[in-house]
Amino acid sequence: MKLREIDAYARLPLPIAAAKGNELVLEDGRRVLDLYGGHCVNTLGAGDPGLGRVIAEQWQRLSFATNLLDHAPRKAFLEAFEPTLPPCDDGWSVFVTNSGAEANENALKLALAFTKRHKVVFFKGAFHGRTAAAAAVSDTKLAAFPTTPFDAVKLPWNDIELASKALDSSVGAVILEPYQSLAGVTEPSAEFLATLRRLCDRTGALLIFDEVQTGNGRLGTPWASQHLGVVPDAFTTAKGAAGGLPIGLTVARTKMAAAVPGKLFGSTFGGGPLVLAAAAEVARRIASPGFLENVRATSAALRQAASRGPIERVRGAGLLLGLVVKPELKASVVRDQLLEQGVLVGTSDDPQVLRLSPALTLVPADAARLASALEALEVRA
Ligand SMILES: Cc1ncc(COP(=O)(O)O)c(C=O)c1O
Repeated sequence: MKLREIDAYARLPLPIAAAKGNELVLEDGRRVLDLYGGHCVNTLGAGDPGLGRVIAEQWQRLSFATNLLDHAPRKAFLEAFEPTLPPCDDGWSVFVTNSGAEANENALKLALAFTKRHKVVFFKGAFHGRTAAAAAVSDTKLAAFPTTPFDAVKLPWNDIELASKALDSSVGAVILEPYQSLAGVTEPSAEFLATLRRLCDRTGALLIFDEVQTGNGRLGTPWASQHLGVVPDAFTTAKGAAGGLPIGLTVARTKMAAAVPGKLFGSTFGGGPLVLAAAAEVARRIASPGFLENVRATSAALRQAASRGPIERVRGAGLLLGLVVKPELKASVVRDQLLEQGVLVGTSDDPQVLRLSPALTLVPADAARLASALEALEVRA
């Protein structure tokens, strides 16, 4: 066959045949504990029966409809999603697309249209996606496009002094991941976030949180803003919001969203009935009794399990954790060794940091498998 895929991914030697809950089933029948969770996508684990039923029933009833028509899953989604949102005097507005990059493009579009400015501040280590505007505010090694669609200013993470100097009334938006996942789950200081909020209030720039990874219950609260105590003007999410179907959500304060022409936004697939039925089910499950408590308890158990063997310290929150390996080790080597022990974890752009982003249905008892795998590595070292 002459057709080949563009070489975007270095694939792991993991011939996957199936997945159930938090386990990958390999072609030879071996089972691997999945602490990567499809990169924050499998909010409810693989093959969740409840979500499967919702998707199957919706497909039978109304599989797709143009955005010119209204349908029950849209109302169901708005009803299920609203109670999860942080406080906002005039309420929130949402626009549905298909991916995190699109969600961020729309948030930036909204911010620049609302402020009528053309400068966006982003941070070293940031990753917001691969489309033009999202790439312009991402700190990636390869230049994605020859020019940026607006003035993009990169600032150091957690540097209050430089942020205070750079943030003036020419800035239309400040975009950040509350925890920078790809950079190695780097944490924001409380003072940094509070300063950004204050500076945005003073200059009129919109504060945008990219919650593509931190959202949908991952930090043990529905959104990072509730965990960190700073509410942005707009936030985005994707990945886990529909538990495995492609989705992007741009959420903005209504007073801002309503001030820009709605016709700036559009999407063929975004907001279709199938994905909204799934997203409504995910939002309901995140709000269901005990769900977020389990995220917090499992986070504590994983932190404890991870604090051994090659791991020097653990950072992050909820079920988005960065495991910093000892200075003489490389995270990618530890990842490969853990895989041999039947545990899948992720790496990051920091060669010293592994990432855990399992399904939110992982339970504290599952952490024991990570502990024994790490101990087995220690024995070999
Ligand atoms: C924080 C963050 N923002 C945006 C994106 C882009 O999302 P997508 O790949 O769905 O476009 C990603 C993807 O990894 C991400 O981690």
